[in-house]
Amino acid sequence: MWGTATSAYQIEGNNTNSDWWDWEKKSFGKVNGPHDISGEACDSYNRYGEDFNLSDALNQNAHRLSIEWARIQPRRDYFSCSEINHYRRVLEDLKKRNIKTVVTLHHFTNPKWFADMGGWENANAPEIFTEYVKRCAESFADLVDYWITINEPIVLIGSGYVVGIWPPNKKNPIKALVALVNLIKAHNEGYRVLKKTISNSKVGFAHNITRFNCSKSSNFLDSVVIKVLNFLFTDLVYIFTKNSSDFFGVNYYLEIELKNLRVLNDDRYGKTEMSGWPVSPQGLYRLLLALKKYNKPILITENGIADGKDVYREEFIVSHLYNIFKAISQGSDVIGYLYWSLLDNFEWHLGYAKKFGLIRVDRENNLERTLRNSAYTYADICKNNCINNSLIEKYKIK
Ligand code: FCB
Repeated sequence: MWGTATSAYQIEGNNTNSDWWDWEKKSFGKVNGPHDISGEACDSYNRYGEDFNLSDALNQNAHRLSIEWARIQPRRDYFSCSEINHYRRVLEDLKKRNIKTVVTLHHFTNPKWFADMGGWENANAPEIFTEYVKRCAESFADLVDYWITINEPIVLIGSGYVVGIWPPNKKNPIKALVALVNLIKAHNEGYRVLKKTISNSKVGFAHNITRFNCSKSSNFLDSVVIKVLNFLFTDLVYIFTKNSSDFFGVNYYLEIELKNLRVLNDDRYGKTEMSGWPVSPQGLYRLLLALKKYNKPILITENGIADGKDVYREEFIVSHLYNIFKAISQGSDVIGYLYWSLLDNFEWHLGYAKKFGLIRVDRENNLERTLRNSAYTYADICKNNCINNSLIEKYKIK
């Protein structure tokens, strides 16, 4: 499968019933410095047809999107038929183009009422989430190829409960642990409900994996520390979810190198607009080999670069794909690649400044979409199901 990934809150616009909506207005400027608020985002709630025309024209045969829980269930005791029908139309639009659908049920944002009940700290959170999962399973069973219950539990916990830069703005390790356990329970319960409702469904969750590595010249302590960090950031969540995952969703962006217990700072940081995100295609190769022990199909549910000038994106895509290819040649079972993201979008607390899109969205000019050059390169790869050798040579990729 070749395609791209998006999430509802980042592209739809006007998700007024979600916890982020009020929080942005209250907290931006205080917590994170002055930033854009999501507002109309890319207006993809209305323009999804236009967006899918572009995915289709770019030869993509798979697409990951998310459903905004707060739209489907704006109140605890009410599921909205009109929003369910909206998402049915969105998914039907992909299906009629023969594009496989990968649907995330929770991508960071919560309904306000759920946040008001204590969100993921509430002991009943998994059960409450499961009611929504059940409704989605019943409503979209015929239209979803791959289900992702929850996106990046570790990032949600890290940003919301440890660093405290996302709602609910806490810096509390105990609450972080409670919320993490509830998210894992919610996935496991969600899996059970999806399988019960649709017996042949394929269900997983998307795990953001920060990798750690050290060079040959690093000391012994480095190698011990990276083993521990890789266990915590890669394996810990998989250990508790492997029996309730038909495949592993992998969101991979960066690999940090340690030397003498310090983070090695080199030119891999300069290629992306995301500070502290060192680009390392070989890190993805190493990760895929490390995941072989779990014996699960792997879907790359996100991988991408913020690069508004589109200087590095082609190399980024080609080099990561080449490393996936190398891992596949050594037995890794990768079933698809979804580039993050189709469009420039609302990058959470960083607003609209970080541009991950294959497609540029002109915020000054009616959100007009324009294809970046790298979109054409990726389109060729999608079409041919292979990377042209000239690209490997161009970037001297190993
Ligand atoms: C991931 C998120 C996604 C986007 C990318 C850049 O961690 O899942 O929503 O913000 O990072």
